[in-house]
Amino acid sequence: MVPLVKTNLPPREILLPELEKVLYSGYVAQGEQVDLFEKRFEEYIGSNYSLSVNSGTAALHIALILAGVKKDDEVISTALTAEPTNVSIKMSGAKIRYADIDANTGSICPNSIVQNINERTKAIMIVDYAGIPVNVSSIQTISKEYNLPVIHDAAHSLGSTFNGKKVGSHFPYSVFSFQAIKHLTTIDGGILQIESQVEYERAKLIRWFGIDKKKTRLENNICEQGFKYHMNNVNAVIGLVQLAQIDMIVNAHIENGKYFDVELNGITGVELLKYYVESKPSYWLYTLKVDNRDGFISKLAENGIMASELHKRNDYHDYLNDFAQVLPELDKFYKRMVHIPCGWWVSHEIREKIVSLIKEGW
Ligand SMILES: Cc1ncc(COP(=O)(O)O)c(C=O)c1O
Repeated sequence: MVPLVKTNLPPREILLPELEKVLYSGYVAQGEQVDLFEKRFEEYIGSNYSLSVNSGTAALHIALILAGVKKDDEVISTALTAEPTNVSIKMSGAKIRYADIDANTGSICPNSIVQNINERTKAIMIVDYAGIPVNVSSIQTISKEYNLPVIHDAAHSLGSTFNGKKVGSHFPYSVFSFQAIKHLTTIDGGILQIESQVEYERAKLIRWFGIDKKKTRLENNICEQGFKYHMNNVNAVIGLVQLAQIDMIVNAHIENGKYFDVELNGITGVELLKYYVESKPSYWLYTLKVDNRDGFISKLAENGIMASELHKRNDYHDYLNDFAQVLPELDKFYKRMVHIPCGWWVSHEIREKIVSLIKEGW
């Protein structure tokens, strides 16, 4: 079965010597390799400051703290995402108020964000679902007008751009995940991109128990709640080796995504997503809308190709459904949404097979 998602690791002759070096170096905790990984990641994104952590969820949690989100505040978010986006809001003690989506793109709808702002709103959480960038310019305007910080969950969209700038450089806080199946994996890990140097310095303390690593324990005085969220040298070394080949991986996703954009266009029973004109997606998954989704999934499965909805809309979890909201555009989208494999493991032969199976009908 051609899987929908797959772990990518560099060839063993490249990865294992680097891993062995760090494993037996006598220092596997947070150290030089972590610093270097952050530096290389800043170069990749093209902006400061990269704070490495041990998961995307940890990055989201720190971002919410930096954004000033506290118990009983509200954060506007989207229900079309993986659960960590919204679980992290609950970790901060805040409530989730869902904006509806733009059914053309699956991304959070800027007008619906505005309609959901109230006096308890503290931040806006946006997600590049499946690797498709959100409407960055409109959301930047809303952020300015209402003075609300934006947390950009870019866990799916490493390598995407908007207005020619890499995702991760448009908002005060951007989050990447390096768990097993993302474009780049460090096995587990993440990065929080932070615009402000002052906030970056604070985030370093929050990342590690509230302790300043530049001072001795005796010189330290913990002044706020911190966590054990740091990345270690072992994961960082994997990240460094992965970063050296990331363009190749991301480009393979993009090439397959563009192929599907062309070849699946105009097929009866298929509706393709639209992308904002300023954006270039990195197609973590290839998402489309189809009639008779169950039939579509079965047809592909019978022919050795996995297709799936993958994520449960988050408002369908009782714990993540604070206000029982009506989301009509998401209702329509969610009934027909399906993902097909699109990553580096999808060869020309496989993608041609996928297209011809879909053309045959289901
Ligand atoms: C959209 C989204 N946000 C956040 C996360 C959290 O990342 P992690 O699993 O690294 O904590 C994930 C990944 O699982 C995700 O898919």
